Amino acid sequence: MITMKDIVLEGHPVLEQVAEEVTLPPSKENKDILAEMLQFLKYSQDSEMADKYKLRAGVGIAAPQLGISKRMFAVHFEDLDGKTYSDGYFNPKIISHSVEQTFLSGGEGCLSVEREVPGYVPRYARVTISATNLAGKQVKLRLRGYAAVVFQHELDHLNGVMFYNHINKQDPFFIPENAKPCDILEDK
Ligand code: NI
Repeated sequence: MITMKDIVLEGHPVLEQVAEEVTLPPSKENKDILAEMLQFLKYSQDSEMADKYKLRAGVGIAAPQLGISKRMFAVHFEDLDGKTYSDGYFNPKIISHSVEQTFLSGGEGCLSVEREVPGYVPRYARVTISATNLAGKQVKLRLRGYAAVVFQHELDHLNGVMFYNHINKQDPFFIPENAKPCDILEDK
């Protein structure tokens, strides 16, 4: 079982590397690791398990955060429309994205970052991602808003990028012209 002691923290070189593609179809070893990562996220959101094992709640985790430089991540969350995302992905790629950007009004956090980092993290408002999922199936996901943010945060980990690398250094709360928050509900 994965616990917080398995998670590497900012400053570790593995978090600054471009991770290696995973051979497809995924090996049993890689599937087992990814399944464990997904299980970690589920436990981290289960109050009993989280209390017992002192887990910090997370909605996504990427293999480099376990010191494994491979292109795979897991997510487990419900977006603002109530749609559930709970799967693991191998070799995810953004195949297209919007020009418009979005950001979380409360900023982002990361299991590998044990401090608050204030500021907006601009992301594409919509992305289409192709990947192989935990079941070994080729999938194409059209994501927007919160879900798009979570997937882009995890994808960044595979490219050695941390969320705070995107925060405007001169003005952390600068809002790009084409960006709107995705977690403040407006008229649809
Ligand atoms: Ni992270």
